[in-house]
Amino acid sequence: MGRMTEIDTSVPHSARIWNYWLGGKDNYPADELAGDAYTAVFPGISTIARSSRAFLRRSIRYLVQEAGIRQFLDVGSGLPTVDNTHEVAQRLAPESKIVYVDNDPLVLAHARTLLTSTPEGATAYEDLSLFEPERILEAAARTLDPARPTALILSGILGHVADHDQARELVRRLLEGLPSGSHLSVNDGSRGTDPDYEQAQDTYNESGAVPYFLRPVDQIAAYFEGLELVDPGVVSVPLWRPDVPDPDPIGQHGGLARKP
Ligand SMILES: C[S@@+](CC[C@H](N)C(=O)[O-])C[C@H]1O[C@@H](n2cnc3c(N)ncnc32)[C@H](O)[C@@H]1O
Repeated sequence: MGRMTEIDTSVPHSARIWNYWLGGKDNYPADELAGDAYTAVFPGISTIARSSRAFLRRSIRYLVQEAGIRQFLDVGSGLPTVDNTHEVAQRLAPESKIVYVDNDPLVLAHARTLLTSTPEGATAYEDLSLFEPERILEAAARTLDPARPTALILSGILGHVADHDQARELVRRLLEGLPSGSHLSVNDGSRGTDPDYEQAQDTYNESGAVPYFLRPVDQIAAYFEGLELVDPGVVSVPLWRPDVPDPDPIGQHGGLARKP
């Protein structure tokens, strides 16, 4: 799937349903309908959406504070929500630069919200598809210094690539354009945790929306091949460097790793 050109409000769409589950307002009746049908089968999806964003927050905090990263490439950024990547990063390091990429025209319409950078830093929005990694790297280089380490963020997007080998290849091509010391943060919906989750996702995938494929954990871990995983590795996202004691695992797995 490449770039989309029009906002079609009659078909449920990933970015808008995700926004609905996160409690946002940037969605249409078709998205609410699809979102509610999903919740009826698997109510845990709102927790998954929120836990995924919380993982993103904690991984950005690690990247800024522990890894010294000041450049971020967030592909499949989604609609603006609470704590967008630039807000979390620039709160900790105002000079941080962020490039957002998404192929949803509605995200483009809201891009202004994503472009409210600190004066010391920079933010940019690129209307491109994950399926054109070289163009993404080329566009990112207008804002980010290609010689400096960058954090590549793929949060809830690789499941949109139907073929796992192709998803791995896209990750590889994006990382190829980033220097040593760059990082990869991935989190995605996982298979093998809850049959209701899998049933809700299968039904959703037949609804006409752009499908999203839950993956076995070892396939999510495979995105990090050749990289140095940061502790605790690829885990259910609430268990990744948690802020609270004894969180419950959910069907969303992810990790963070450094390019050697
Ligand atoms: C489930 S949402 C995740 C949003 C955000 N990253 C987060 O973690 O909350 C998936 C996002 O990926 C975007 N997306 C799907 N396919 C894409 C593609 N081929 N290229 C770029 N973005 C894509 C959707 O528009 C949507 O914003």
